[in-house]
Amino acid sequence: MQNRFWRIARRPEGTDFAAALELDEAPLAPLGTGEIRIRNSHLSMDAGTRMWLTDREDGYQPPLPLGIPMSGLVLGEVTESHADGFAPGDLVRAFGQWADVSTVDAVMSGAIVLDPTVTDRRAWFGPLGMNGWTALWGVEQTGAAKPGERVLVSAAAGATGILAVQVAKLLGCEAWGIAGGAAKCAYLTDELGIAGAVDYKAADVGGQLDAAGGFDIYFDNVGGDLLDQVLTRMNHYGRIAVCGLLADYTGGGRTSPREFDQVLMRRLRIEGFFSPDFMHEGPALTRRLRDWTEAGALVMPYDVTQGLENTLSAYAKLFTGGNIGKVIVELEA
Ligand SMILES: NC(=O)c1ccc[n+]([C@@H]2O[C@H](COP(=O)([O-])OP(=O)(O)OC[C@H]3O[C@@H](n4cnc5c(N)ncnc54)[C@H](OP(=O)(O)O)[C@@H]3O)[C@@H](O)[C@H]2O)c1
Repeated sequence: MQNRFWRIARRPEGTDFAAALELDEAPLAPLGTGEIRIRNSHLSMDAGTRMWLTDREDGYQPPLPLGIPMSGLVLGEVTESHADGFAPGDLVRAFGQWADVSTVDAVMSGAIVLDPTVTDRRAWFGPLGMNGWTALWGVEQTGAAKPGERVLVSAAAGATGILAVQVAKLLGCEAWGIAGGAAKCAYLTDELGIAGAVDYKAADVGGQLDAAGGFDIYFDNVGGDLLDQVLTRMNHYGRIAVCGLLADYTGGGRTSPREFDQVLMRRLRIEGFFSPDFMHEGPALTRRLRDWTEAGALVMPYDVTQGLENTLSAYAKLFTGGNIGKVIVELEA
C-alpha cells in the first residue's frame, strides 16, 4: 500500500514551510518486531516541533535529519501490531509521522492505548494530552502558584496558554493572558472569564501591563521583548515558568533579556520545564484534567484543518497567530 507523508527536504526559513517540506509517497515497509501501524485520524500541530527543524546542536534534542518524514503526535487506530499490548482496532496516541499511516516502535514512540469512551477524541491532544500536562505542571509545580496569586500567561489564546489560564483560575489564582488582537483578548475575558487580557499587537503594551498591576507568576510561552516587558512588572519573589520561546523559533534570534537584573532586584526565580521530564506523571495529571473537562470547567476550542495535503497551512498558524485553541489536522478515516 502507498502511504503519503510530509518529507523534510530542506531546513525552513522562518515560516516558509512550503519550501522545506514536500508531500511524498512511498510503499509501506513490512512491520518490524515491536512496531505498530496506526491509521492516523488526527495530527497534532505543536509549536515546539519547529525547533526540531532548525539545524542547531545545543537544543534539547538533535535536529530531525533531512529526508525523513516530519514527526509529531498522532491519534488513530492500530491496523497492525507486532508489539505486546497493542491490537488492531485500539485507539492510540504516539509520536508518529505527518502521514496517512504512521509506523512506529511502540516503546520509542511513547504509544499509549486510549480510553475510547472519551466523547471527543481530540481531547487526547488538548486537555488530556501534552498541552494539558504542560499547563498544569507549569502553573502548579514550576510556577508554584498559590490561591490568590496573580498569574500572567503569554500566547494565552493558543493550545497551551488557553489551558494554563484556566488551570490558574481553577487553582484559585487571578489569571491574566497576553494574546495578539482584540478578538483573542475578548475570547479570554468574555468566554473564559479570566481577570484580564493584554493585547501585545495593540499600542502601548507597557501601559496595558502597568494598568494590569504586578504579577506573581509569569507562564511564558514566548520569551523575546515581551519577557523584558514583564520582568520589570513582576512582584517581589515572583516565579517565571519558561514553557517555550516562540519569539525565537522562526529566526527571531535568541532571547537575552535586557532586564535580567530584575531577577536580582525583585528576587525572582526563573525555571524552564519540559514535558518529557514529567511524562511519568501523565496518568495522574490526566485524571485531574479529565475531571475538570468532564465537569465543564476546562474547555478547549479546536482549530481544525481537513486533509493531509493542507497540513502546512495549519502548522503556520502557530507562528502567525491564526488560531484560537488547539490546531489539529483531521484526516479521512
Ligand atoms: N515545555 C514544554 O514541555 C512544552 C510543551 C508544549 C508546548 N510548549 C510551548 O508552548 C508554547 C505554545 O505552543 P502550542 O503548541 O500550544 O502553540 P499555540 O499556543 O497553539 O500557538 C502558538 C500561538 O503563539 C502566539 N505567538 C506566535 N508567535 C508569537 C510571538 N513571536 N510573540 C507572541 N506570541 C506569539 C500566536 O498567537 P498570537 O495571535 O497571540 O500571537 C499563536 O497562536 C510554545 O512555546 C511551545 O514550545 C512547551
